[in-house]
Amino acid sequence: MATSKNKSTSTKKNGNTWSGRFDEPVSELVQRYTASVGFDRKLAEYDIEGSLAHAWMLSGAGIINADDLAAIESGLGRIRDEIRSGEFIWLLELEDVHLNIEKRLTTLIGDAGKRLHTARSRNDQVATDVRLYLRAAIDNIIRLIHGLQRALLDLAEQHVDTVMPGFTHLQVAQPVVFGHHLMAYFEMLRRDVERLSDCRKRVNKLPLGAAALAGTSYPIDRKAVAQRLGFEGICENSLDAVSDRDFAIEFCADAALIMTHLSRLSEELILWMNPSFGFIDLADRFCTGSSIMPQKKNPDVPELVRGKTGRVNGHLVALLTLMKGQPLAYNKDNQEDKEPLFDTVETLTDTLRIYADMLTGVRVNQDAMRNAAMRGYATATDLADYLTKKGLPFREAHEAVATAVRFADRSGRDLSALTLSELQEFSRLIDSDVYAVLTLEGSISSRGHIGGTAPAQVRAAIRRARKWLS
Ligand code: ARG
Repeated sequence: MATSKNKSTSTKKNGNTWSGRFDEPVSELVQRYTASVGFDRKLAEYDIEGSLAHAWMLSGAGIINADDLAAIESGLGRIRDEIRSGEFIWLLELEDVHLNIEKRLTTLIGDAGKRLHTARSRNDQVATDVRLYLRAAIDNIIRLIHGLQRALLDLAEQHVDTVMPGFTHLQVAQPVVFGHHLMAYFEMLRRDVERLSDCRKRVNKLPLGAAALAGTSYPIDRKAVAQRLGFEGICENSLDAVSDRDFAIEFCADAALIMTHLSRLSEELILWMNPSFGFIDLADRFCTGSSIMPQKKNPDVPELVRGKTGRVNGHLVALLTLMKGQPLAYNKDNQEDKEPLFDTVETLTDTLRIYADMLTGVRVNQDAMRNAAMRGYATATDLADYLTKKGLPFREAHEAVATAVRFADRSGRDLSALTLSELQEFSRLIDSDVYAVLTLEGSISSRGHIGGTAPAQVRAAIRRARKWLS
């Protein structure tokens, strides 16, 4: 008896909640290795919110009394203040955010604090915290995407008539207006918002009540807790509730796509800023110089966005890999979900914030864009279409125009600079009305269907986009 009492006192010194079952404390290295408080303290506000809802439900169900509830509420309120002000002392030996807060609560209010964990486990507690955290993050990210979309619309609106070469294979293909090009990114981001909103529905389910894995023998009211915490429903299977992190994986996949979209835009900004293109200039505050080459202005911010996309993609793979070998239900592996998830949220949030600001500082060199479109025989397809409309089968028209382009290229001129008789060498069907389709404006305005690059259509697309945003 005496020995076991001694043992229990000595392990208690180690501070572990489960110390009664163990003969020796963990080593310092194991403690450091298994602790998550260094990063999961980010969940503190959500942990407190979840605990308040749980305590409120416990009291409503008669599992704890009203005095206990009042003590828990005031204690958790005080802890929240301590955390916000930075006074709270986080202890590694208390392992994680949950045990740190619970221990402090017990110090502050005594036994009532110890009753808070009735009908609950850290397994359903942490799953709840992560979902609350991610729900708030998604709402903020959607708001930031909307901001970026507004910045795109503002820029697109200024460039509904700005002609640039559209590219395929990064070769000049057909003329488009810059506003149309920008609106392509608006569409990608619109789908990104849709994906996030859809993901939010699955994030917004309550795991609490699953307890360790099998549920609890107490008469809990999960629906009431869900309602109070703003969850749309409850996780219907207790084993699933504590073990799966598919909602976080799904979010990371959505985030990886958003970053991928922004990475493509970044690649374009970088190319366009290169003097060989000279299409745009970025505001100085998004660039740096070189310590050795005085002429340099480097597009650091878009380069970093491109680089950070790799990091976010990596987090997605990390979470998938984390999950793939886990038997049901909760395993400690899941503690490793947090750093990739937090870093994804933070990287994405910062990227979106910086991007909206960067787009407002884009200066466009319309002449450079136009000249580039002039140089690449961008209206060759228009000439082929012209011949086809006059009855020539498209494949023959294609061949005739290819020969004309070769001729124009040798004589160093654009198609629109060839004389009528020169053009007629390639097809008798060509008449003086051909020049209307050979100009950049002619080519652009002829693509006047929905989704086309004609300025009137781009204006209409911008109008629809503004409506969607409002
Ligand atoms: N820190 C843990 C995590 O993030 C909390 C849950 C711990 N549960 C347990 N049975 N050890 O997953």
